[in-house]
Parts: sequence; structure tokens; C-alpha cells
Amino acid sequence: TDLDSFISGLPKAELHLHIEGSLEPELMFSLAERNGLAIPYATVEEVRAAYAFSNLQDFLDIYYAGAAVLCTRQDFHDLAAAYFARAAADGVIHAEIMFDPQTHTDRGIAFAEVIEGLLSAMADARAKFGMTTELILCFLRHLSEEAAFATLAEAEPWLDRITAVGLDSSEVGHPPAKFAGVFAAARQKGLKITLHAGEEGPPAYVYEALDLIGADRIDHGNRAMEDPGLVQRLSSEEVTLTVCPLSNLKLCVVDDLANHPIDRMLEAGLKATLNSDDPAYFGGYVGDNYRAVARARGLGREHLVMLARNSFTGSFLPPEQIAVHL
Ligand code: ADE
Ligand code: ZN
Repeated sequence: TDLDSFISGLPKAELHLHIEGSLEPELMFSLAERNGLAIPYATVEEVRAAYAFSNLQDFLDIYYAGAAVLCTRQDFHDLAAAYFARAAADGVIHAEIMFDPQTHTDRGIAFAEVIEGLLSAMADARAKFGMTTELILCFLRHLSEEAAFATLAEAEPWLDRITAVGLDSSEVGHPPAKFAGVFAAARQKGLKITLHAGEEGPPAYVYEALDLIGADRIDHGNRAMEDPGLVQRLSSEEVTLTVCPLSNLKLCVVDDLANHPIDRMLEAGLKATLNSDDPAYFGGYVGDNYRAVARARGLGREHLVMLARNSFTGSFLPPEQIAVHL
């Protein structure tokens, strides 16, 4: 349809994408074979059938198990190269990708293997597609702050190639406050900060992300909508929210896309953006997220243009580069 081709042609940035979450079942099988690892599925269909989640933790258990096939620099390169090709086809011209080093270093994979594989795919994306890319190092919030400090220390040789630090994994019971020290240290090193908050966790976690951590951006933020004062605050401070509709549906953050809050967020003055989160697990890349939510909520071109525009203004690109995209 017209709207579909309008969406594909709309230049956009993707700001919330876990590279481990872009591992398609086909690549999972080929990497398992390349690395001589067994996986608990017989076929690609069986893998896809396992992707029925009732909450965030359900998904995380399967996502961490899947990531175990990623072992070498080449594996991380191939993973990211596949994502950049799909993103380019969706009209993504700038991508800020998150990675979870602890998921790999805790299995004995060297930090260098992970990041060098990602960096080489990022260089290729620039050369092949003219895409600009940035790296966001995420700490796993179900682990300790001490472990996050150790990860930040391991990243030291690459800090000039890491734009921001993030916080992901099991939200409830692991509030931002638990990581106040490590985010302060990261800030001191010149890194930007973005935190998953208000996906399953309460509005209080979004307040903590702002007040205790000084987050530059909020990932998800859906539950901020429960607190009018918080909506007002996010709106007046122009805090970008990286919203992920298909993720929200698959993880039961919303019961139906027809009830997704994206247009209410925009109308409340929030700087909402559309993103894919973990596209291989949630049934679609960023273009699919635009199309699905546009259909479900009856969004018009003005909404879609606003969402794409917010993806650049909310990016961690320097202001002069943002201006080029507006
Ligand atoms: N890790 C990967 N995707 C995530 C999500 N949507 N929430 C929290 N942690 C994640
Ligand atoms: Zn996420």
C-alpha cells in the first residue's frame, strides 16, 4: 500500500536494538554447527514455536540460551552484518545498537572478540550502506553493580568507540538505584546513559532513572503513562522514549496493538520513537513496527514523520549531524 512504501522510504534512526536479539533462527543453527554446539531445537520451525512469551523473564531465558551460539569475532560480525542489511532495507540510515557483554564474558568469550566483531560490521555498514552506527554497552541488571563495574573496566580500551551505557534484563526487583555508582563512573568517562525503565517496572523506576542516574534517554517507558506528573516531566524535559510496539505485544506489556499508547504518547508531548528491540524474537524489524502500529492505531503520515524525526533528535549523534537529517 501507499503507507507501506511511505514507511520504507522514510529515513529513520533505530535507537533501541539489542544485537543479540537480532539472531535469526537460521543463523542460530549455522553458528551452532560452525562452533560444534548443540541447541535444544531440531528445526527452525521448532525455534520459532518456542517464541511464545508471557512476560519479560520468559523471553530473557530463551534469549540468553540462544546467545550461547555466539563465540567468535566472526560470529559477532555476521550477526551484526545481517542486522545492518535488514535495517538498511527498512530505511534506517543511523543505528545505535546495544550489546550485552556479560552474556558472553560470563561464558568465557573475550570482551575483545565481541566488540571487535561488532566494530568490523559497523565499518562495513558505513562502507556498504552509508549507515552511521554507534555502540551502547548494556549492563545486565539481574547481576551485581560490582559485575557492571568490572565490565566497564574491561571496556576501557574501546571507550572511544562506545557512545553510551545502558541497563537491560530483568527489570522488576532491580531498580536503577542499584547501579547509581557505575552510571556515575560511566558519566565521568564521557559516556551517555540510557536505561530500560517502565517496561514492566513501575513509574518510580523512571523517576530513579532521571533523578538518581541522570538518564539521557529512557528505553520503553510505557508505564510512565500511569503517572500524569511524570508524563509532564518527560515532556517538558524533552526526554526521548525508545518505544517498541511488537516487543510490547509479545511480552504482554500491551494486550493488543489496538491499545498501544504510541499516539497518546505523542499527543501528550512525549518524544517517542519506534524501534524493534529484539526483532528476531518479536516478529519484525523497525519497518514492521512502524507498519503494525500505524495499522493498529490508524496513524497517519504526520505521526510517522514525527516518530522518524524524533528518532534523529533523540539520537546520540552530535547536533550538527542531527541537523543534517531534519
Ligand atoms: N534485553 C533484551 N531485550 C530486552 C528488553 N526488552 N527488556 C529488558 N531487557 C532486554
Ligand atoms: Zn530492550
